[in-house]
Amino acid sequence: MNNSPWNASQTPAADGHPRCRIVSTADGSYTLYLPALNEHYHSVNGAVQESLHVYIEAGLRYICKDAPHTSRRILEAGFGTGLNALLTMLEAEHSRTDIYYEAIEKYPLPLEIVTSLNYAETLRLPDSCRFMHLHNLAWEQEQRLSPHFSLCKRRVDLCAYEPDGLFDGIYFDAFAPSVQPELWTATIFRKLYNSLSDGGALVTYSAKGAVKTALRQAGFELQRLPGAAGKRHMLRAVKPHSSLLSNSDADA
Ligand SMILES: C[S@@+](CC[C@H](N)C(=O)[O-])C[C@H]1O[C@@H](n2cnc3c(N)ncnc32)[C@H](O)[C@@H]1O
Repeated sequence: MNNSPWNASQTPAADGHPRCRIVSTADGSYTLYLPALNEHYHSVNGAVQESLHVYIEAGLRYICKDAPHTSRRILEAGFGTGLNALLTMLEAEHSRTDIYYEAIEKYPLPLEIVTSLNYAETLRLPDSCRFMHLHNLAWEQEQRLSPHFSLCKRRVDLCAYEPDGLFDGIYFDAFAPSVQPELWTATIFRKLYNSLSDGGALVTYSAKGAVKTALRQAGFELQRLPGAAGKRHMLRAVKPHSSLLSNSDADA
């Protein structure tokens, strides 16, 4: 990552993570701001609102709509605060759908930052136990965290990550294409396309032209959807069923 805060002049904290600030967003939930990148982890128009809109409603519910109680495998690129994982765990319990959730993160957050986040409070959970379980879980280990949700966190660079098995859905939640252009490429999207089952979908908050081009080059069919608060559009990129591809497409 050329623009990595780890290369920036700003001194990182002792644990190697760049300094970040906690910021309150429009729905009362917190996000993190990285001054070195001038980048937030979520929309300042509502962190929880954005995660629910992009990843749960447009992603998970779409993926589960035809067979609600069938088990699903979800991959997240950019675990970060764990907000998407928490919302997915709550949805899995609510819908009684078994979910295996694999999350990739190159730069895990220090626990003292995580404990300051107010997601349990914003979501009116009785306490922060379930949220903290996500973070206390060791890396590279699959563990069942609730009756319908198991998690495996992988500490790896998305560029080096080799998916194991097929996923039904991908939450693509890297920093913005302007900040991390090396992650929003046809090469990365092709790797993710190959890791999706037929009919599976990748969702992301960005609908930039270059992102659409790279996703199409990787083979996806795009659906431009209304964006979360403050954003006009988001993208759902669907892997067509192989029976719908022409022979030449399938061989490409
Ligand atoms: C926009 S934040 C979103 C994080 C998370 N989904 C959340 O809800 O907090 C992007 C995340 O991607 C991680 N990241 C950045 N570059 C990465 C890379 N090359 N490989 C894996 N993760 C990366 C960052 O550390 C950060 O946690």
